[in-house]
Order: sequence, then C-alpha cells, then structure tokens
Amino acid sequence: MEDKEFKALWVTEEGDKSYKRQVVQRLVSQLPPGELLVRVLYSSLNYKDALSASGNRGVTRRYPHTPGIDCAGVVEQSTVTDFAPGEEVIVSCFDLGMNTPGGFGQYIRVPAQWAVKLPEGMNPRRSMIYGTAGFTAAQCVERIISHGVVPQDGPVLVTGATGGVGCMAVAMLAASGYTVSAASGKDEDEFLTAIGAAEVIKRQKIAVGANRAMLRERWAAAVDTVGGPYLEAILKTCRYSGIVTCCGNVAAPELNLTVYPFILRGITLAGIDSALTPVLKRQRIWQRIAGEWNFDFLEDMAVEVTLNDLSEAIDRMLAGHLKGRVIVKLAD
Ligand SMILES: NC(=O)c1ccc[n+]([C@@H]2O[C@H](COP(=O)([O-])OP(=O)(O)OC[C@H]3O[C@@H](n4cnc5c(N)ncnc54)[C@H](OP(=O)(O)O)[C@@H]3O)[C@@H](O)[C@H]2O)c1
Repeated sequence: MEDKEFKALWVTEEGDKSYKRQVVQRLVSQLPPGELLVRVLYSSLNYKDALSASGNRGVTRRYPHTPGIDCAGVVEQSTVTDFAPGEEVIVSCFDLGMNTPGGFGQYIRVPAQWAVKLPEGMNPRRSMIYGTAGFTAAQCVERIISHGVVPQDGPVLVTGATGGVGCMAVAMLAASGYTVSAASGKDEDEFLTAIGAAEVIKRQKIAVGANRAMLRERWAAAVDTVGGPYLEAILKTCRYSGIVTCCGNVAAPELNLTVYPFILRGITLAGIDSALTPVLKRQRIWQRIAGEWNFDFLEDMAVEVTLNDLSEAIDRMLAGHLKGRVIVKLAD
C-alpha cells in the first residue's frame, strides 16, 4: 500500500511569495503517520481551504501543502479497534488540511479521533454537501435552540446567507420552525427563498447605524458568519435576551463595541468553533444532521467539481462569488 500513487492538489510557494496550485501524483508513503489510512471519496470547499490554498499563514504554516479540512471516505487501514477497514467515515476538525495533508488528496492518514463513522441516513457525497460548513451551521442553530429562543420570539437573521455556513443555517433554522431573514450581498432571492428564507435583505442594510450605541430591536437571534460592522450592528438590533452566534470573519475580524447590548438587553454573544469539537459532540451533531436536518433539496444545490476544476472554484470563493456548496469528487 505504501507505494500506491494518488492524486492531490498541491500548493507551492513560489519565489515571489505567490502560491501555485497544481494536481500532482503523491505516494501513500509520503503521508504522515496515523492510525487510519482513508481513501477519500468526497471533500468539500470551505473558506478555510480557500485561505490555505492561497498562502494564508494563519491557516497553513508550511508549504508545499494539500488543503481540505473535511472529507468522507473508506478506511483502508486501521491500527485501532474502533474502526475497521471498509468502514465509511467522515474526517474533519483538528489539523486536517491545515498543516496535515487534507481531503484534496485521494488518501489521508490521520489520528482515529479525527474520524466519526458515517451516520445512518448519510452517504459520503451528501455528508460533504454539509461538510464543515453544515456542521458549523448545525452548531450555531443548536446554540440558538438551547438558549431558549423559540419561533414565536421573532425572526432569526443569517448573514453571508448564500455562503456555505449561511445557506445551511438558513435551511436548518427554517426546518426547525423559525422565520428566517437572510442577509446577502448577491441577488439570489429565489435561491434563498427556496432553501427556507422568509425574507431576503441586502447586506449593506444590516450594517446601517453600526456606529450608534444601540439600535431598534429586531432579531430574536442571529447566525453571523461575516463579523466586523455587520456583527456590531446585529448585536445592537438583537431583541432583549437574544443570542448571536459568531463563527466567521469574511467581512472583518474586528469588533468595535460598547458593553450596552450586553448590560441593557442581556444579549449573549456565542463563539462557535468547529475545529476542536470533541468526538462525542461531533458524533451527536452528525446524527442530528443525518436525521432532522437531512434535506434532499441540497442535492440540487451543490456543485460538484474534480481536483482539476478546484483551483478555479477556490478563486471564486475568495472573490465572494460562490453560492451554496462546492463538493470535490476524489474517486477516479
Ligand atoms: N468557527 C468555525 O469553526 C468555522 C467553521 C466554518 C467556517 N467558518 C468561517 O465562517 C465564515 C464563512 O465560511 P463559509 O465556508 O460559509 O464561506 P463562503 O462559502 O465563502 O461564504 C461566505 C459568504 O459571506 C458573504 N461575504 C463575502 N464577502 C463578504 C464581505 N466582504 N462582507 C460581507 N459578507 C461577505 C458572501 O455571502 P452573501 O453574498 O450571501 O452575503 C459569501 O458567500 C468564514 O469566515 C469561515 O472561516 C468558521
């Protein structure tokens, strides 16, 4: 097996600090040590992958490198009793695709705790339509539900709504009975309505008044994927005792705030991280995705690419032009 060749996206740093992506042949023996050797069937494109594939040192310190922070595939070799060869798994979180060769290669070798068994009701392809984006959206929606926000409390806002996390959050919130307001920079009202949005708002309108101390109460809760002035304004427009989940920084990482939303309206700002989610929680969330949040309509929404087309999709994501989810088919 060690001399088996496979294809992978290979990102190299060029002399002028630019980064080049190409599809190359690698050997299984070149993978790092690990308990599970997994033959990757599908991966997905997440914002973090786009950063890794374009030389972002906050995500990937060393190049050359193969990105891909999540994938689904079949265990080929296992040195642990929890997983047997032939079992289908989802591998995500921790260092996969950051400094460990990731799912944009046909094989990965990883610690067993990075994997969960593919839950019943899921297949590898569909699990990557969700991928880390869907998993993160599920964590955000769970936090809103466990905070005690109920549909009668009012609309729930989602920013970056046509993006991976955003569109999954729209669909999951709508399926859970909430009235969803989707904020987007694109003219994709039809798409957003089809996945469950009751209302589509131009994203610039969300940030209006972001520099004021407080704004009129509007949202019972919000899933924010973009940060910066949008998150500032959302915290000031959240209804009394509401919750805003924060998972992304596509617009900006900075937050210029006063304490007023917290001390005058009792707002909760909940940070969401998927990278270090413990295995038991990952299993539980994937079960929930495979159950109540398992939507057939996502099949039509996903765009499937091969390794050869992936670089172009990465550029489109970095430019903010992608809609929905891009999945990567690794099997020849
Ligand atoms: N915390 C975690 O564990 C975790 C996990 C997954 C993702 N994330 C983060 O969540 C964020 C979203 O990830 P993703 O995979 O959903 O990315 P994505 O598919 O690229 O979606 C991001 C969306 O944000 C909107 N957007 C783009 N540029 C913007 C700008 N300058 N200002 C405001 N909005 C902008 C666009 O949606 P519209 O055109 O519809 O507005 C875009 O589709 C990223 O920051 C990612 O790193 C974090």
